[in-house]
Amino acid sequence: MSVPPAPPLALLAELTHRCPLQCPYCSNPLELDRANAEMDTAAWQNVLDQAAAMGILQVHFSGGEPMARGDLADLVRHAARAGLYSNLITSAVLLDERRAAALAEAGLDHVQISFQGTEAGPADVVAGYSGAHEKKLRAARLTRDAGLPLTVNAVMHRGNLDRIEATIAMAADLGAARLEVAHVQYYGWGLKNRAALIPTRAQLEHTTAAVMAARERLKGVMVIDYVVPDYYAARPKACMGGWGRQFVNITPSGRVLPCHAAETIPGLAFESVRDRPLAAIWADSPAFRRFRGTDWMPEPCRSCDRREVDWGGCRCQAFALAGDAAATDPACALSPKHGDVLALAERESAVMAPPAFVYRRMEKIPVLEPGKK
Ligand code: SF4
Ligand code: FES
Repeated sequence: MSVPPAPPLALLAELTHRCPLQCPYCSNPLELDRANAEMDTAAWQNVLDQAAAMGILQVHFSGGEPMARGDLADLVRHAARAGLYSNLITSAVLLDERRAAALAEAGLDHVQISFQGTEAGPADVVAGYSGAHEKKLRAARLTRDAGLPLTVNAVMHRGNLDRIEATIAMAADLGAARLEVAHVQYYGWGLKNRAALIPTRAQLEHTTAAVMAARERLKGVMVIDYVVPDYYAARPKACMGGWGRQFVNITPSGRVLPCHAAETIPGLAFESVRDRPLAAIWADSPAFRRFRGTDWMPEPCRSCDRREVDWGGCRCQAFALAGDAAATDPACALSPKHGDVLALAERESAVMAPPAFVYRRMEKIPVLEPGKK
């Protein structure tokens, strides 16, 4: 009999796919869950109780835009009572004084705000939302005023990498305890827009130097996490800390995924918390078992001394680039496909006039008032 897996560290609760923004690198699937398919308050509260009982420590309330849910403060309060550390991952355009105070009072532990740039004009073009940047700046200050720790999540790509120094200065000025300099990842919407987003190697080198210098300068003031674009890396990241090892993701309608992009991989069936307990899905759902551990690995991963460091990289990226989710991640220099990936990155990033963005759009984005779902 196989040993049951340890519980995940964290639950990513995608409360809704509704979002006022339309970012062309959105991590949500191309096929978005409609508002009427979302789980209601009681169903999410039940999920939070199950997560705490499993030994999960953290819940990240995410979306879409989780603040589009009128019951967010109720869910935060429920998480706090269940003993879960709660983080709100938000675009912050709906975060005003009233809601910041309500979330702090409900026991929210942390806020992470994504920024599309440092200047309103270009940042709002990326967000597809006029006025977004000013609202984000204001919301970041409200977050700090409410006594909540702040992480600035700066999503970087060819259009804003040349503003890396200004990005670091903006985060420090906002009083962020942490800055994530996160290059766009190319799955779903990001993959659709790759040719418009992929940076040049020279941009990457400049960014790396700026981040290293800022880490020294801001030691003890602000932590800077740095996610490099996989296509230029020599070894892949340990995506999700390994498939089915540390994180579990639940979609607005209740499907349980090993990562936010897992539904891009064909042939995997994802169970729902509406049908089966979360702990049972985590332990033995075929979709979780498929790439858990090292038994599934092909060569060169199988005999590589990094196999329990990066867990073979990213399954979604392997499918996107190699057409096979069970292949070594082509971002790895040991993959036979790595040369093709580098050539592709260099070819697409060299195009002087990148294509226009394909925005992530829902036909209608209802933002519900408190008291409703
Ligand atoms: Fe990681 Fe596989 Fe590359 Fe080794 S061969 S570094 S395990 S992706
Ligand atoms: Fe799915 Fe990396 S995004 S495994």
